[in-house]
Amino acid sequence: MIASPFSEHVSFVCLGSVPEGLDIYREEALILSPKAVSKRRTEFKTGRVAAHRAVQRLTGQPSPPILKGQRGEPLWPDHLVGSIAHTDGIAMAAVAFQAVLKGIGVDFELKDRRFSTAISDRVCTDAEKLWVNEDAQESAQRFLTVFSAKESFYKAYTTCYRAEPAFTDVLLCVVEGQRFTIKTLNEHTVPSRTLEGLFVGYKWLDGYVVTFMEIPADDAGS
Ligand SMILES: CC(C)(COP(=O)(O)OP(=O)(O)OC[C@H]1O[C@@H](n2cnc3c(N)ncnc32)[C@H](O)[C@@H]1OP(=O)(O)O)[C@@H](O)C(=O)NCCC(=O)NCCS
Repeated sequence: MIASPFSEHVSFVCLGSVPEGLDIYREEALILSPKAVSKRRTEFKTGRVAAHRAVQRLTGQPSPPILKGQRGEPLWPDHLVGSIAHTDGIAMAAVAFQAVLKGIGVDFELKDRRFSTAISDRVCTDAEKLWVNEDAQESAQRFLTVFSAKESFYKAYTTCYRAEPAFTDVLLCVVEGQRFTIKTLNEHTVPSRTLEGLFVGYKWLDGYVVTFMEIPADDAGS
């Protein structure tokens, strides 16, 4: 399975299936639409079981049900913050104490996922396209990395700020160490003061592009 890309503050669990004997809570199962297809049911369940494990590892206590907020976001137990992602039968959950982090985002994509040019135009700014297209051999993977990094950013940022940024509201600039710094292109939805010192990390692992983000609590470390 995929190793944790996060700092030591984050409890990270990645599962390829639901271990035998484990199940989700009835309240969680009720979140799913009765029309949900089997793939969605399996990924939802694997994501919730990964989240329960991540909570238990962090707190030493069994996780209560993790329900869903108005924007689709997971509702974490008191004092915790986290993020869930699933693709291709694999699920990841990342959880931390709110005293340390006020937002977490995780996302991953299959390396061979392909998008149309119309979608890449909606996701990337012109400056990001320069980086994506700089290396023809890597360009599909670079595009996926920008896409996934923006999904990770979205998950972390909406949790903290209740904002719903669009893909072209931020500009990702690649820097040393497989990181993007984040610049705002829309002060209204993403004020620049909220981005100071933040980055989205990325890793290219066997078959996957993984991206991740941590937003420190305001008084963390003071
Ligand atoms: C919500 C969203 C980020 C989910 O990403 P995805 O690639 O479709 O799916 P993933 O498997 O990676 O993640 C799904 C999980 O994200 C979580 N999620 C859903 N909505 C969320 C939100 N508003 N905030 C945080 N997490 C959310 C849920 O836990 C969900 O799994 P679950 O329904 O089983 O609980 C995506 O569908 C979306 O709406 N994006 C908005 C547009 C965007 O990304 N803009 C970028 C701006 S820079």
